[in-house]
Amino acid sequence: MSLLTDLTGAPPGTTTRALILRLSAIGAVLAGTAGAFAYAGGWLSPGALTPSRVINRFEDVNGRHPGFRRNHAKGMCVAGTFAASGAGARVSRAGVFVQGRVTPVEGRVALAGGQPYAADAETTVRSLALRFRLPDGEEWRTGMNDIPVFPVRTPEAFAEQLLAAKPDPATGRPEPERLRAFYAAHPESAAAAALIRARTVTAGFADGTYRSLNAFRFVAADGRATPVRFAYLPERDAAPATDARSPGADRNFLFDDLAAALRREPLRWRLVVTLGQPGDPTDDATTPWPVDRETIDAGTLTLTGATPEAPGNCRDINFDPLVLPDGIAPSDDPLLSARSAAYSQSFTRRAGEATLPSAVTRTPNHGAAL
Ligand code: HEM
Repeated sequence: MSLLTDLTGAPPGTTTRALILRLSAIGAVLAGTAGAFAYAGGWLSPGALTPSRVINRFEDVNGRHPGFRRNHAKGMCVAGTFAASGAGARVSRAGVFVQGRVTPVEGRVALAGGQPYAADAETTVRSLALRFRLPDGEEWRTGMNDIPVFPVRTPEAFAEQLLAAKPDPATGRPEPERLRAFYAAHPESAAAAALIRARTVTAGFADGTYRSLNAFRFVAADGRATPVRFAYLPERDAAPATDARSPGADRNFLFDDLAAALRREPLRWRLVVTLGQPGDPTDDATTPWPVDRETIDAGTLTLTGATPEAPGNCRDINFDPLVLPDGIAPSDDPLLSARSAAYSQSFTRRAGEATLPSAVTRTPNHGAAL
């Protein structure tokens, strides 16, 4: 048996023509694979937006901060449980909604933006990301923000907006002309920005409302699909932020307040699922749905503790919004697959880099533990 035969796995007696055909087939597979990599890497389309280019854009705008998330870089881990009310089972067969089921949850609260050591500011967008571990090995990963709508409709607009909002090194602020041009080209973003500016900014993480912004599809036991958006509403009354707070005394005051509140008592949020009607946009996170839509109170999230980011905890979770259990499916929102691809690229880069401790770990007035 020749070396060639060994390599191709051809049985003895195979003709030369058959061998050539077989080798050509292998060559075609290899070429196809190389082509797929070239396509995914954007080498075949220098103008196309690839996950790698999106993450390069974050690094261009924010600088490189090895080991940190390229967005929502400053964060802290939280943990608790989700207790299902049973009402969600009407629209989703996901195990997490079975009446009485209590699912362990690991999560991360964070501030939007790519600066891991920025001082906390009340107006910075706050986020809550959660990973539910279902008994049969399924997971539901989700990330939500405390704003009413998302500022852009498409991944391309997201990348454009990042650049338009890049601070001018001379002033430390975005160039107004660039922002004006962006909003002129994207009226949907101008409308969304007005809604975001008009929101009530609450005092901290503990009384924030965290919204999916993207639509998903809940799938019931009988296969019926319902478009949904969902939000976690705080049990606490929301207290509007006051201007009196100054980050001067504690650059991590938002995180420290939450950690202190969780040391005193558990904090609770209700998961409220809004059911979309035909015609409600599922592919446009800049547009709110009508306020009169039916909602379902699907259960209670209880957070019981906070921990600084460290190897092996929430720091190393990729809260990919497309990791979904049976009973929850993506919508046609183009942001969802872009998020999944960009988070994966961000995760791959940060996982391979040496990192400094999180700013939240280094807060002087944390005491011994969060
Ligand atoms: C094309 C649009 C978007 C892009 C390119 C993008 C990009 C990113 C990136 C790169 C990260 C860091 C991921 C990691 O390293 O683990 C991130 C985190 C996050 N994003 Fe997005 N994002 C987009 C849209 C959205 C939308 C629509 C939401 C809606 C709520 C959202 C919510 C979050 C949250 C909550 C986190 C923090 C997750 C965590 O704590 O790990 N993003 N985003």
